[in-house]
Amino acid sequence: MPDPLRILLVHGPNLNLLGSREPAIYGNATLEEINASLAAVAKGEGAEIEFFQSNHEGALIDRIQEAPAFFDGIVINPGALTHTSIALRDALAATKLPVAEVHLSNVHAREEFRRHSFVSPIAVGVVCGFGAASYRLGLEGLLARLREAPAPA
Ligand code: DQA
Repeated sequence: MPDPLRILLVHGPNLNLLGSREPAIYGNATLEEINASLAAVAKGEGAEIEFFQSNHEGALIDRIQEAPAFFDGIVINPGALTHTSIALRDALAATKLPVAEVHLSNVHAREEFRRHSFVSPIAVGVVCGFGAASYRLGLEGLLARLREAPAPA
């Protein structure tokens, strides 16, 4: 049996408010509920998953910098930092881990300032607009990518 794939799932600022924050845009599911359903998906896939949410850019960067020692890939909803943070993008790129970028809402169908992502160019894939299912789709896509990746020499 190969070692289980290990995924770090990162939620950026304000995502701790899911469930009560603009439910017409972000849905009714709480962060806890989303994490619980992702834990079940990971289990079904034979993968390990850990969750981290912070409202602080530096705390997110610190956690991401540590990731290569413990994880094979990162799924991240960077929240508004998607559109503003070169530092977060650089931290993700520095890990050299494959990154899946996910958003609950379709950021391209909203305000102009949400259309640009600093993260997308360094992500292996992006999922947006499917509500909480965006996370599941991003996780499954990343696991599939990791499984097809050639073993390191
Ligand atoms: C979001 C979209 C961002 O523009 C916004 O700032 C968020 C959530 C989403 O999941 O749809 O906080 O990343």
